[in-house]
Amino acid sequence: MAHELKAYVFIYLPGETVAVPAGIFTHYPDDGIGRFAYGLRYLERPNALPVDPVALQLGVTPRDATTNGGLYGAFRDASPDYWGRLVIAAELKSPPESLEEMDFLLHGNASRVGCLDFRVSLDQGEPESRPPAFQSLADILEAATQLQQGEPVRHDLLQLLEQGTSIGGARPKCTVELDDALWIAKFPARGDTVNFPRIEYATILLAKACGITVPELRLVTVGDKDVLLIQRFDRRKTPAGYQRFGFLSALSLMEWDERDRTQWSYPALADKMRATTLAQPDELNELFRRMVFNVLCRNTDDHPRNHGFLWNKDGLSLSPAYDIVPTPARPGIGTDFSLSMSLGYRGREATLANAMSLSARFGLPHKEALLIVEEMRVGVKTWEEHFTSHSVSSADTEAVRACFMSADAGF
Ligand SMILES: Nc1ncnc2c1ncn2[C@@H]1O[C@H](COP(=O)(O)OP(=O)(O)OP(=O)(O)O)[C@@H](O)[C@H]1O
Ligand SMILES: [Mg+2]
Repeated sequence: MAHELKAYVFIYLPGETVAVPAGIFTHYPDDGIGRFAYGLRYLERPNALPVDPVALQLGVTPRDATTNGGLYGAFRDASPDYWGRLVIAAELKSPPESLEEMDFLLHGNASRVGCLDFRVSLDQGEPESRPPAFQSLADILEAATQLQQGEPVRHDLLQLLEQGTSIGGARPKCTVELDDALWIAKFPARGDTVNFPRIEYATILLAKACGITVPELRLVTVGDKDVLLIQRFDRRKTPAGYQRFGFLSALSLMEWDERDRTQWSYPALADKMRATTLAQPDELNELFRRMVFNVLCRNTDDHPRNHGFLWNKDGLSLSPAYDIVPTPARPGIGTDFSLSMSLGYRGREATLANAMSLSARFGLPHKEALLIVEEMRVGVKTWEEHFTSHSVSSADTEAVRACFMSADAGF
């Protein structure tokens, strides 16, 4: 193991707005292995929490991380994705492919998801927490557009963008502050053929109407662009600053590999939730609803990083739902589709019958599951009026019409 890189892992403990060191992470990028050791002083804290509640439980000798390039799940979740990496690479003036996982982990800033932080030394101070104000959105949008077009971005604009973009995901976005809360602002992306921010807004509100728990949402128009604002569920403002809550994606909870989708399965996730969290029956019911809704609106991008859990001293709980967007499809062409995760006996096949087939694993007797599906189908059938009431254009409504066909087709 030649090449090794180290980072100090810090954690914001419950109620705190300043992080404390929890241990050292050593990454061996050439071997795709990571190794974490808790600091002894950290372990003596009465309020110590695991930095990853699945892979790095307190009182258990840590195992090496060998999946996902050697990053423990909670570390991977705290690291930026495609979009955040593009911004960091622009800031460092290096192509993204020339940078190491560790560069991205260390360059993520106060906007990263969850309650962890990664620093080069023990005495490196708190990352600056300067979430851009909502009023800066026009400038941030301009910077995001230039970056996507491969144009040079003015340094002050890039810095503004960088302050808010360490959160994950592929689409252009930035965290902004508004009304004493942090919001993820999701922008239109270069090459979009439909108005995704408005469609996502209408779809998540439709999910809410179907009984799914969602964060507070707003749709704002900046210049000629729609921007979706989603309130962050992992932050709470206090007079001393923002408190942070731990975040773990379903990928990390299950210790799945990002490239091996054969493992990804809703019923397996439900089994794990029953076994390892304080998951109440209503959380399993909620997971079932989210799976059914993804069938009903053809959200085929329901990969396990698009399902999340919050964690604190009491354990894990399912986070509000996010990133629910129909994948536009033309009627008559490819009406059969698959979700990203397996639903039932027929694997990833996106049908209501398949979603129903293993309902018992979600703690739902057949009759009860059927009632939920029927109720959701009735809700989703109103999608067109709902989209119209949220001013989705007629062209965009046509573009997603075929996505909602399962609601009409039934079983
Ligand atoms: N309301 C929220 N509060 C805190 N974190 C969130 C919230 N919504 C999403 N996240 C985190 O931000 C990440 C990116 O958000 P989202 O999935 O909406 O972006 P995306 O770019 O559309 O993703 P993808 O790459 O899956 O298309 C999520 O994976 C999750 O970790
Ligand atoms: Mg996502």
